[in-house]
Amino acid sequence: MTQAKEAPAGPPAKGGLEGVVVAPTAMSTIDGEKGLLSYRGFDICDLAEHASFEETVHLLWYDRLPTTDELHDFSADMAAGRAVVSEVLDAITPLAPRMSIMDLLRTGASCLAAYDPDARVTLDDPDAHAAANLRKASRVTAQMATLVAASHRLRVGDDPIAPRDDLSHAANFLYMLDGERPDEELARVLDVALVLHADHGFNASTFSARVTASTEADLHAAVTSAIGTLKGRLHGGANVRVMRMLRDIGSPDRAEAVVDEMLEKGQRVMGFGHRVYKVEDPRATVLRELARTSCERSGHAIWFDISQRVEEVMKERKPTIAPNVDFYSASTYAALGVPEDLFTAIFALSRVSGWIGHVMEQHRNNRLIRPRSDYVGQRDQTWVPIADR
Ligand code: SDX
Repeated sequence: MTQAKEAPAGPPAKGGLEGVVVAPTAMSTIDGEKGLLSYRGFDICDLAEHASFEETVHLLWYDRLPTTDELHDFSADMAAGRAVVSEVLDAITPLAPRMSIMDLLRTGASCLAAYDPDARVTLDDPDAHAAANLRKASRVTAQMATLVAASHRLRVGDDPIAPRDDLSHAANFLYMLDGERPDEELARVLDVALVLHADHGFNASTFSARVTASTEADLHAAVTSAIGTLKGRLHGGANVRVMRMLRDIGSPDRAEAVVDEMLEKGQRVMGFGHRVYKVEDPRATVLRELARTSCERSGHAIWFDISQRVEEVMKERKPTIAPNVDFYSASTYAALGVPEDLFTAIFALSRVSGWIGHVMEQHRNNRLIRPRSDYVGQRDQTWVPIADR
């Protein structure tokens, strides 16, 4: 049988789609050479300084900053959707001792679809579907924070704390961890971190969400795909490992020996390097100052001092590898008293707003994402009956 005529093998696949432009987006853009990031045309440094997470989410989903009244209504609507039904919490409760927070979040997010009033709206009616996506977007973004806090409390043997609707998204998340209303300065530190993590071009988890959405799968399915993707240590899972590294190092004067040992073993120093940035990630620049002030304020200056020493050693050993968003988010979250195994989940409860914005963008102008591959396997094999193998 003649082989199906195939296009000649293209250049060897570079791996990881490095440098490949897959599709247009109006959500965010990165200039890797200059170390710039902007959401819908607004520089991330301006958003970190002036915007709340809710304001940033409105910008990502509606392509403009909200007016005062719009922000009030948008925030109130999101706050009203924070509650997670007891059936979903009951579903993840027996799993809590056996699963990481990210796995509980992936499972819980998937279960949310069973109780979402708009879960069955399809793309048969694009306008109705777009309106349903926006309603789901607000609920899923709000409920992700509730799921993360509930997963944490279930894992430590405590009952989940019901969300409040009179606190900001960031403040309410901190409240749901321990039942204490956080002070405004702490809540604002987390709020800024959520702004910084909300969107970032076609990173792995966002691309995963778009591939899922391109099959016309629903928003909950796309978010579930993205959570699974973010978990990996080369992506969102790096910040937990940064904190473990800081704890292992223990003091600034041990940083050089520990980093040198990791590099000699060919290990990656978590929190450094990036596929797109060739200079410092602008989010790391903002987070470095957040980490400095938060660590000093909370009496954990040691974490910042060790981080700075690690950065100095990496600058000497690997001058082309700069800190990324995960490096200083670790000491910032530690200073806020957030348990380590929640770090990646905090990344997720911010990035879900970006994932959803990309899902809505994909659904609005969709074409199935289905790339080609460079076949390098065996050819022209002859069948051998099992008795003769
Ligand atoms: C995020 O894509 C996004 O936008 C992601 C993200 C987002 O907001 O969504 O920005 C969030 O995921 C940030 C990245 C978090 N991950 C880490 O911190 C893990 C450690 N970093 C590396 O694994 C690495 O830098 C990657 C995965 C992030 C990027 O790697 P690339 O683009 O595949 O680069 P590479 O592996 O080809 O490395 C190029 C060279 C290699 O040296 P050589 O083998 O050529 O001699 O740089 C070296 C690497 O060894 N290198 C590192 C390093 N990162 C790259 N060496 C030591 N430590 C590191 N961290």
